[in-house]
Amino acid sequence: MRILLLGSGGREHALAWKIAQSEKCEQLYIAPGNAGTQVAGENVAIGVNDFERLKDFTLSHHVDMVVVGPEDPLVNGIYDAFRDDARTAAIPVIGPSKAGAMLEGSKDFAKAFMKRHHIPTAAYETFDGTTVEQGVKFLETLKAPYVLKADGLAAGKGVLIVPTLDEAKRELREMLGGRFGNASAKVVIEEFLSGIECSVFVLTDGRHYQILPEAKDYKRIGEHDTGPNTGGMGSVSPVPFATPEWMQKVEDRIIRPTVDGLAAEGINYKGFIFFGLINVGGEPMVIEYNCRMGDPETESVMLRLKSDIVDLFEGVAEGRLDTRKVEFDPRAAVCVMLVSGGYPGAYKKGYPISGIDQVEGSIVFHAGTALKNGQVVTHGGRVIAVSSYGHDKEEALRKSFSEAQKIQFTDKYFRRDIGQDL
Ligand code: AMP
Ligand code: GLY
Repeated sequence: MRILLLGSGGREHALAWKIAQSEKCEQLYIAPGNAGTQVAGENVAIGVNDFERLKDFTLSHHVDMVVVGPEDPLVNGIYDAFRDDARTAAIPVIGPSKAGAMLEGSKDFAKAFMKRHHIPTAAYETFDGTTVEQGVKFLETLKAPYVLKADGLAAGKGVLIVPTLDEAKRELREMLGGRFGNASAKVVIEEFLSGIECSVFVLTDGRHYQILPEAKDYKRIGEHDTGPNTGGMGSVSPVPFATPEWMQKVEDRIIRPTVDGLAAEGINYKGFIFFGLINVGGEPMVIEYNCRMGDPETESVMLRLKSDIVDLFEGVAEGRLDTRKVEFDPRAAVCVMLVSGGYPGAYKKGYPISGIDQVEGSIVFHAGTALKNGQVVTHGGRVIAVSSYGHDKEEALRKSFSEAQKIQFTDKYFRRDIGQDL
Protein backbone atom coordinates (compact mmCIF):
# COMPACT_ATOMS: atom_id res chain seq x y z
CA MET A 1 0.00 0.00 0.00
CA ARG A 2 1.18 3.52 -0.84
CA ILE A 3 0.33 5.94 1.93
CA LEU A 4 0.36 9.73 2.19
CA LEU A 5 0.53 11.09 5.74
CA LEU A 6 -0.28 14.77 6.35
CA GLY A 7 1.41 16.95 8.96
CA SER A 8 4.80 18.04 10.22
CA GLY A 9 5.01 17.61 13.98
CA GLY A 10 6.10 15.05 16.55
CA ARG A 11 2.73 13.32 16.23
CA GLU A 12 3.32 12.81 12.52
CA HIS A 13 6.87 11.54 13.03
CA ALA A 14 5.51 8.99 15.53
CA LEU A 15 2.73 7.98 13.11
CA ALA A 16 5.26 7.73 10.27
CA TRP A 17 7.52 5.56 12.44
CA LYS A 18 4.63 3.22 13.17
CA ILE A 19 3.26 3.14 9.60
CA ALA A 20 6.73 2.44 8.18
CA GLN A 21 6.99 -0.70 10.35
CA SER A 22 3.96 -2.24 8.65
CA GLU A 23 4.55 -4.98 6.11
CA LYS A 24 1.55 -3.58 4.29
CA CYS A 25 3.26 -0.25 3.73
CA GLU A 26 5.09 -0.26 0.42
CA GLN A 27 5.77 3.48 0.22
CA LEU A 28 5.19 6.31 2.70
CA TYR A 29 5.04 9.98 1.77
CA ILE A 30 4.72 12.75 4.34
CA ALA A 31 3.44 16.21 3.39
CA PRO A 32 5.11 18.42 4.37
CA GLY A 33 6.95 16.42 7.08
CA ASN A 34 10.03 17.51 9.01
CA ALA A 35 13.70 16.54 9.31
CA GLY A 36 12.72 13.33 11.12
CA THR A 37 9.90 12.03 8.94
CA GLN A 38 12.15 11.85 5.92
CA VAL A 39 13.91 8.91 7.53
CA ALA A 40 10.61 6.99 7.78
CA GLY A 41 9.49 7.95 4.28
CA GLU A 42 9.74 10.64 1.66
CA ASN A 43 8.81 14.24 2.40
CA VAL A 44 6.65 16.08 -0.10
CA ALA A 45 6.59 19.88 -0.09
CA ILE A 46 2.83 20.41 -0.11
CA GLY A 47 0.89 22.14 2.66
CA VAL A 48 -1.79 20.21 4.56
CA ASN A 49 -4.53 22.59 3.41
CA ASP A 50 -3.59 22.60 -0.27
CA PHE A 51 -6.25 20.04 -1.20
CA GLU A 52 -5.95 20.43 -4.98
CA ARG A 53 -2.21 19.77 -4.99
CA LEU A 54 -2.63 16.91 -2.51
CA LYS A 55 -5.23 15.31 -4.78
CA ASP A 56 -2.96 15.70 -7.81
CA PHE A 57 -0.09 14.16 -5.88
CA THR A 58 -2.12 11.11 -4.79
CA LEU A 59 -3.10 10.53 -8.43
CA SER A 60 0.35 11.03 -9.95
CA HIS A 61 2.00 8.86 -7.27
CA HIS A 62 -0.69 6.15 -7.08
CA VAL A 63 -1.38 6.75 -3.40
CA ASP A 64 -3.81 4.20 -1.93
CA MET A 65 -4.62 5.91 1.36
CA VAL A 66 -4.35 9.35 2.99
CA VAL A 67 -3.81 9.59 6.76
CA VAL A 68 -4.46 13.00 8.29
CA GLY A 69 -2.39 14.07 11.33
CA PRO A 70 -3.59 17.56 12.34
CA GLU A 71 -7.11 18.98 12.82
CA ASP A 72 -6.86 21.89 10.43
CA PRO A 73 -7.33 20.07 7.11
CA LEU A 74 -10.06 17.92 8.69
CA VAL A 75 -12.02 20.93 9.92
CA ASN A 76 -11.49 22.45 6.46
CA GLY A 77 -13.06 19.37 4.86
CA ILE A 78 -10.27 17.31 3.31
CA TYR A 79 -12.32 14.13 3.66
CA ASP A 80 -15.18 15.66 1.67
CA ALA A 81 -12.80 17.21 -0.88
CA PHE A 82 -11.41 13.76 -1.76
CA ARG A 83 -14.80 12.05 -1.67
CA ASP A 84 -16.55 14.66 -3.82
CA ASP A 85 -13.97 14.53 -6.61
CA ALA A 86 -14.59 11.58 -8.94
CA ARG A 87 -10.84 11.21 -9.50
CA THR A 88 -10.06 10.69 -5.78
CA ALA A 89 -13.37 9.34 -4.42
CA ALA A 90 -11.96 5.81 -4.18
CA ILE A 91 -8.90 6.85 -2.12
CA PRO A 92 -9.73 6.40 1.56
CA VAL A 93 -8.97 9.34 3.84
CA ILE A 94 -8.37 8.33 7.45
CA GLY A 95 -10.01 11.19 9.29
CA PRO A 96 -13.59 12.40 9.76
CA SER A 97 -15.73 14.34 7.32
CA LYS A 98 -16.07 18.07 7.79
CA ALA A 99 -19.27 17.46 9.75
CA GLY A 100 -17.50 14.96 12.04
CA ALA A 101 -14.54 17.28 12.57
CA MET A 102 -17.01 19.75 14.10
CA LEU A 103 -16.53 17.78 17.31
CA GLU A 104 -13.26 19.68 17.51
CA GLY A 105 -13.97 22.61 15.18
CA SER A 106 -16.87 23.94 17.23
CA LYS A 107 -17.02 23.72 21.02
CA ASP A 108 -20.70 24.71 20.86
CA PHE A 109 -21.42 21.83 18.45
CA ALA A 110 -19.48 19.40 20.67
CA LYS A 111 -21.31 20.48 23.82
CA ALA A 112 -24.73 20.28 22.15
CA PHE A 113 -23.83 16.84 20.74
CA MET A 114 -22.91 15.61 24.23
CA LYS A 115 -26.12 17.01 25.65
CA ARG A 116 -28.19 15.29 22.93
CA HIS A 117 -26.53 11.96 23.67
CA HIS A 118 -26.38 12.27 27.46
CA ILE A 119 -22.59 12.13 27.55
CA PRO A 120 -21.20 13.42 30.88
CA THR A 121 -19.60 16.87 30.53
CA ALA A 122 -19.56 20.21 32.36
CA ALA A 123 -22.80 22.25 32.35
CA TYR A 124 -22.58 25.11 29.85
CA GLU A 125 -24.22 27.82 27.80
CA THR A 126 -23.17 29.46 24.54
CA PHE A 127 -23.31 33.19 23.79
CA ASP A 128 -22.65 35.43 20.80
CA GLY A 129 -22.48 39.13 20.02
CA THR A 130 -26.24 39.52 20.45
CA THR A 131 -26.37 37.85 23.89
CA VAL A 132 -23.41 39.41 25.72
CA GLU A 133 -25.53 40.61 28.66
CA GLN A 134 -27.12 37.15 29.07
CA GLY A 135 -23.56 35.79 29.15
CA VAL A 136 -22.63 38.19 31.92
CA LYS A 137 -25.74 37.09 33.89
CA PHE A 138 -24.84 33.42 33.35
CA LEU A 139 -21.33 34.05 34.72
CA GLU A 140 -22.93 35.50 37.86
CA THR A 141 -24.67 32.16 38.49
CA LEU A 142 -21.35 30.23 38.42
CA LYS A 143 -18.62 29.78 40.99
CA ALA A 144 -14.96 30.70 40.46
CA PRO A 145 -12.83 29.86 38.55
CA TYR A 146 -14.61 30.63 35.30
CA VAL A 147 -14.07 28.68 32.07
CA LEU A 148 -14.52 30.55 28.76
CA LYS A 149 -13.94 28.85 25.44
CA ALA A 150 -13.77 30.32 21.96
CA ASP A 151 -16.13 28.23 19.85
CA GLY A 152 -13.76 27.73 16.91
CA LEU A 153 -10.16 26.62 16.42
CA ALA A 154 -7.76 29.07 18.06
CA ALA A 155 -4.44 27.19 17.84
CA GLY A 156 -4.91 25.77 21.33
CA LYS A 157 -5.18 29.23 22.90
CA GLY A 158 -8.96 29.63 22.91
CA VAL A 159 -9.65 28.35 26.44
CA LEU A 160 -9.41 30.80 29.34
CA ILE A 161 -9.69 29.85 32.98
CA VAL A 162 -10.00 33.02 35.04
CA PRO A 163 -10.06 33.37 38.81
CA THR A 164 -12.47 36.30 39.36
CA LEU A 165 -15.93 37.24 38.15
CA ASP A 166 -14.79 40.71 37.06
CA GLU A 167 -12.07 39.27 34.88
CA ALA A 168 -14.44 36.69 33.46
CA LYS A 169 -16.90 39.41 32.43
CA ARG A 170 -14.12 41.44 30.85
CA GLU A 171 -12.75 38.41 28.98
CA LEU A 172 -16.21 37.48 27.74
CA ARG A 173 -16.68 40.95 26.24
CA GLU A 174 -13.21 40.85 24.68
CA MET A 175 -13.70 37.40 23.21
CA LEU A 176 -17.07 38.26 21.71
CA GLY A 177 -15.49 41.52 20.51
CA GLY A 178 -13.14 39.52 18.28
CA ARG A 179 -10.16 38.65 20.47
CA PHE A 180 -9.70 35.35 18.59
CA GLY A 181 -11.20 36.66 15.37
CA ASN A 182 -14.04 34.60 14.00
CA ALA A 183 -13.16 31.70 16.33
CA SER A 184 -14.63 33.65 19.27
CA ALA A 185 -17.74 34.94 17.50
CA LYS A 186 -19.41 32.46 19.85
CA VAL A 187 -18.17 31.69 23.35
CA VAL A 188 -18.96 28.65 25.47
CA ILE A 189 -19.04 29.33 29.21
CA GLU A 190 -18.92 26.22 31.33
CA GLU A 191 -18.75 24.93 34.84
CA PHE A 192 -15.22 24.34 36.15
CA LEU A 193 -14.40 20.69 36.77
CA SER A 194 -11.72 19.63 39.21
CA GLY A 195 -9.76 16.43 38.69
CA ILE A 196 -6.90 14.76 36.82
CA GLU A 197 -7.03 14.65 33.04
CA CYS A 198 -6.47 11.68 30.77
CA SER A 199 -6.52 11.35 26.98
CA VAL A 200 -8.35 8.37 25.53
CA PHE A 201 -8.10 7.52 21.84
CA VAL A 202 -10.24 5.39 19.60
CA LEU A 203 -10.12 4.53 15.97
CA THR A 204 -13.56 4.17 14.37
CA ASP A 205 -14.96 3.18 10.99
CA GLY A 206 -18.17 4.99 11.87
CA ARG A 207 -19.87 1.92 13.32
CA HIS A 208 -17.23 -0.11 15.13
CA TYR A 209 -14.40 1.23 17.23
CA GLN A 210 -11.18 0.02 18.77
CA ILE A 211 -9.74 1.63 21.89
CA LEU A 212 -6.04 2.53 21.76
CA PRO A 213 -3.68 2.94 24.74
CA GLU A 214 -4.57 5.98 26.86
CA ALA A 215 -2.08 8.65 27.91
CA LYS A 216 -1.67 11.73 30.04
CA ASP A 217 -0.04 14.85 28.68
CA TYR A 218 1.67 17.72 30.47
CA LYS A 219 0.54 21.06 29.11
CA ARG A 220 2.21 23.74 31.24
CA ILE A 221 5.72 24.96 30.54
CA GLY A 222 6.87 24.91 34.18
CA GLU A 223 7.46 22.02 36.55
CA HIS A 224 4.58 21.13 38.88
CA ASP A 225 2.16 22.48 36.27
CA THR A 226 3.08 26.13 36.51
CA GLY A 227 3.32 28.87 33.88
CA PRO A 228 1.56 29.19 30.55
CA ASN A 229 0.13 26.38 28.44
CA THR A 230 2.18 24.82 25.66
CA GLY A 231 1.45 22.34 22.91
CA GLY A 232 2.54 19.65 25.40
CA MET A 233 5.77 18.99 27.29
CA GLY A 234 5.60 15.23 27.64
CA SER A 235 3.29 12.25 27.98
CA VAL A 236 2.93 9.01 29.88
CA SER A 237 1.09 5.78 29.03
CA PRO A 238 -0.55 3.90 30.71
CA VAL A 239 -2.33 6.19 33.17
CA PRO A 240 -2.63 4.54 36.60
CA PHE A 241 -6.17 5.76 37.38
CA ALA A 242 -7.43 4.47 34.02
CA THR A 243 -8.14 1.05 35.56
CA PRO A 244 -10.23 -1.54 33.69
CA GLU A 245 -13.26 -0.45 35.78
CA TRP A 246 -12.75 3.22 34.95
CA MET A 247 -12.18 2.45 31.27
CA GLN A 248 -15.40 0.43 31.26
CA LYS A 249 -17.27 3.53 32.44
CA VAL A 250 -15.52 5.53 29.72
CA GLU A 251 -16.56 3.03 27.09
CA ASP A 252 -20.18 2.69 28.27
CA ARG A 253 -20.90 6.34 29.06
CA ILE A 254 -18.69 8.16 26.57
CA ILE A 255 -17.13 6.17 23.73
CA ARG A 256 -20.10 4.06 22.64
CA PRO A 257 -22.65 6.90 22.91
CA THR A 258 -20.31 9.11 20.87
CA VAL A 259 -19.80 6.62 18.03
CA ASP A 260 -23.48 5.63 18.06
CA GLY A 261 -24.51 9.30 18.21
CA LEU A 262 -22.41 10.18 15.17
CA ALA A 263 -23.92 7.26 13.25
CA ALA A 264 -27.46 8.11 14.35
CA GLU A 265 -26.99 11.70 13.15
CA GLY A 266 -25.69 10.48 9.79
CA ILE A 267 -22.25 12.00 10.35
CA ASN A 268 -19.51 10.27 8.41
CA TYR A 269 -16.59 9.52 10.73
CA LYS A 270 -13.72 7.25 9.77
CA GLY A 271 -10.71 8.15 11.84
CA PHE A 272 -9.40 8.90 15.30
CA ILE A 273 -11.50 10.34 18.09
CA PHE A 274 -9.54 11.88 20.96
CA PHE A 275 -11.53 12.09 24.19
CA GLY A 276 -10.03 14.69 26.53
CA LEU A 277 -11.36 13.35 29.84
CA ILE A 278 -11.24 14.43 33.44
CA ASN A 279 -11.62 12.12 36.41
CA VAL A 280 -14.05 13.81 38.79
CA GLY A 281 -14.26 11.77 41.99
CA GLY A 282 -13.84 8.52 40.07
CA GLU A 283 -16.32 9.44 37.32
CA PRO A 284 -15.05 10.24 33.81
CA MET A 285 -16.34 13.41 32.14
CA VAL A 286 -15.52 14.92 28.76
CA ILE A 287 -13.53 18.16 28.70
CA GLU A 288 -13.19 18.18 24.92
CA TYR A 289 -13.20 16.13 21.76
CA ASN A 290 -10.49 16.28 19.15
CA CYS A 291 -10.84 14.77 15.71
CA ARG A 292 -7.25 13.47 15.52
CA MET A 293 -4.55 11.95 17.70
CA GLY A 294 -2.97 13.99 20.49
CA ASP A 295 0.44 15.55 20.48
CA PRO A 296 2.59 14.62 22.46
CA GLU A 297 0.42 11.63 23.43
CA THR A 298 1.03 9.93 20.07
CA GLU A 299 4.76 9.90 20.85
CA SER A 300 4.08 7.47 23.70
CA VAL A 301 0.85 5.78 22.48
CA MET A 302 2.47 4.53 19.23
CA LEU A 303 5.12 2.74 21.30
CA ARG A 304 2.40 0.81 23.11
CA LEU A 305 0.40 -0.15 20.03
CA LYS A 306 1.56 -3.62 19.03
CA SER A 307 -0.93 -4.11 16.20
CA ASP A 308 -0.12 -3.19 12.63
CA ILE A 309 -1.56 0.31 12.26
CA VAL A 310 -1.98 0.02 8.50
CA ASP A 311 -4.07 -3.10 9.02
CA LEU A 312 -6.24 -1.06 11.42
CA PHE A 313 -6.52 1.74 8.85
CA GLU A 314 -7.61 -0.81 6.25
CA GLY A 315 -10.28 -1.98 8.68
CA VAL A 316 -11.46 1.63 8.98
CA ALA A 317 -11.56 2.10 5.21
CA GLU A 318 -13.50 -1.15 4.68
CA GLY A 319 -15.95 -0.45 7.51
CA ARG A 320 -14.76 -3.72 9.08
CA LEU A 321 -12.77 -2.50 12.05
CA ASP A 322 -14.60 -5.15 14.10
CA THR A 323 -12.50 -7.80 12.34
CA ARG A 324 -9.25 -6.23 13.55
CA LYS A 325 -7.62 -6.51 16.95
CA VAL A 326 -5.76 -3.89 18.92
CA GLU A 327 -2.95 -5.34 21.00
CA PHE A 328 -1.18 -3.26 23.64
CA ASP A 329 2.49 -3.57 24.57
CA PRO A 330 2.42 -4.25 28.33
CA ARG A 331 5.41 -1.98 28.94
CA ALA A 332 5.09 1.68 29.93
CA ALA A 333 6.00 4.36 27.41
CA VAL A 334 6.76 8.03 27.97
CA CYS A 335 7.91 11.00 25.99
CA VAL A 336 9.84 14.05 27.17
CA MET A 337 9.70 17.09 24.93
CA LEU A 338 12.81 19.21 24.40
CA VAL A 339 11.77 22.78 23.64
CA SER A 340 13.36 26.06 22.57
CA GLY A 341 14.27 28.52 25.36
CA GLY A 342 11.55 31.17 25.63
CA TYR A 343 8.76 28.91 24.34
CA PRO A 344 5.73 29.26 24.52
CA GLY A 345 6.66 32.95 24.27
CA ALA A 346 9.16 34.30 21.73
CA TYR A 347 12.09 32.02 20.88
CA LYS A 348 14.82 31.80 18.25
CA LYS A 349 15.00 29.21 15.48
CA GLY A 350 17.87 27.78 13.49
CA TYR A 351 20.17 26.50 16.25
CA PRO A 352 22.13 23.38 15.21
CA ILE A 353 21.09 20.22 17.05
CA SER A 354 23.80 17.72 17.95
CA GLY A 355 23.88 14.36 19.65
CA ILE A 356 20.79 12.75 18.13
CA ASP A 357 23.01 9.95 16.80
CA GLN A 358 24.34 9.32 20.33
CA VAL A 359 20.90 8.34 21.63
CA GLU A 360 20.64 4.64 22.44
CA GLY A 361 17.56 2.72 23.46
CA SER A 362 15.16 5.67 23.19
CA ILE A 363 13.28 6.79 20.10
CA VAL A 364 13.78 10.35 18.90
CA PHE A 365 10.76 11.96 17.26
CA HIS A 366 11.30 15.28 15.56
CA ALA A 367 8.67 17.94 16.25
CA GLY A 368 10.02 21.34 15.21
CA THR A 369 13.18 20.66 13.23
CA ALA A 370 14.41 21.48 9.74
CA LEU A 371 17.42 20.59 7.63
CA LYS A 372 19.74 23.48 6.74
CA ASN A 373 22.70 22.59 4.55
CA GLY A 374 22.56 19.00 5.77
CA GLN A 375 22.45 20.04 9.44
CA VAL A 376 19.37 19.43 11.62
CA VAL A 377 18.38 22.75 13.22
CA THR A 378 15.66 23.92 15.59
CA HIS A 379 12.61 25.13 13.72
CA GLY A 380 9.82 25.38 16.31
CA GLY A 381 8.98 25.79 19.98
CA ARG A 382 8.71 22.09 20.59
CA VAL A 383 11.81 20.62 18.95
CA ILE A 384 12.29 16.93 19.76
CA ALA A 385 10.42 14.24 21.71
CA VAL A 386 12.55 11.63 23.44
CA SER A 387 10.36 8.53 23.81
CA SER A 388 11.22 5.45 25.84
CA TYR A 389 9.89 2.14 27.05
CA GLY A 390 10.28 0.81 30.59
CA HIS A 391 8.90 -1.92 32.83
CA ASP A 392 7.17 0.96 34.57
CA LYS A 393 6.94 4.68 33.92
CA GLU A 394 9.78 5.44 36.34
CA GLU A 395 12.17 3.30 34.33
CA ALA A 396 10.95 4.76 31.05
CA LEU A 397 11.31 8.31 32.41
CA ARG A 398 14.84 7.67 33.72
CA LYS A 399 15.74 6.49 30.23
CA SER A 400 14.21 9.51 28.46
CA PHE A 401 15.82 11.98 30.89
CA SER A 402 19.27 10.43 30.51
CA GLU A 403 19.04 10.27 26.70
CA ALA A 404 17.67 13.83 26.62
CA GLN A 405 21.01 15.03 28.07
CA LYS A 406 22.81 13.80 24.96
CA ILE A 407 20.86 16.02 22.60
CA GLN A 408 22.22 19.54 22.57
CA PHE A 409 21.04 22.86 21.19
CA THR A 410 21.29 26.42 22.47
CA ASP A 411 18.75 27.21 25.23
CA LYS A 412 17.30 23.68 25.31
CA TYR A 413 14.68 23.22 28.05
CA PHE A 414 12.60 20.29 29.26
CA ARG A 415 10.45 19.45 32.25
CA ARG A 416 12.04 16.98 34.65
CA ASP A 417 8.83 16.24 36.51
CA ILE A 418 6.86 14.48 33.75
CA GLY A 419 4.80 11.64 35.24
CA GLN A 420 5.56 12.55 38.85
CA ASP A 421 2.00 13.55 39.73
CA LEU A 422 0.63 10.11 38.93
P1 AMP B 1 -9.66 22.33 25.90
O1 AMP B 1 -9.00 23.06 24.76
O2 AMP B 1 -11.15 22.35 25.86
O3 AMP B 1 -9.04 20.99 26.14
O4 AMP B 1 -9.23 23.12 27.21
C1 AMP B 1 -7.86 23.28 27.52
C2 AMP B 1 -7.62 22.92 28.95
O5 AMP B 1 -8.41 23.74 29.81
C3 AMP B 1 -8.04 21.51 29.28
O6 AMP B 1 -7.06 20.57 28.97
C4 AMP B 1 -8.26 21.61 30.77
O7 AMP B 1 -7.04 21.54 31.47
C5 AMP B 1 -8.83 22.99 30.94
N1 AMP B 1 -10.29 22.95 30.97
C6 AMP B 1 -11.13 23.03 29.92
N2 AMP B 1 -12.41 22.96 30.32
C7 AMP B 1 -12.39 22.83 31.65
C8 AMP B 1 -13.40 22.70 32.64
N3 AMP B 1 -14.69 22.72 32.35
N4 AMP B 1 -13.01 22.57 33.92
C9 AMP B 1 -11.70 22.56 34.24
N5 AMP B 1 -10.69 22.69 33.36
C10 AMP B 1 -11.03 22.82 32.08
N1 GLY C 1 -2.18 16.95 23.81
C1 GLY C 1 -3.35 17.69 23.55
C2 GLY C 1 -3.66 17.86 22.13
O1 GLY C 1 -3.08 17.25 21.26
O2 GLY C 1 -4.56 18.64 21.84
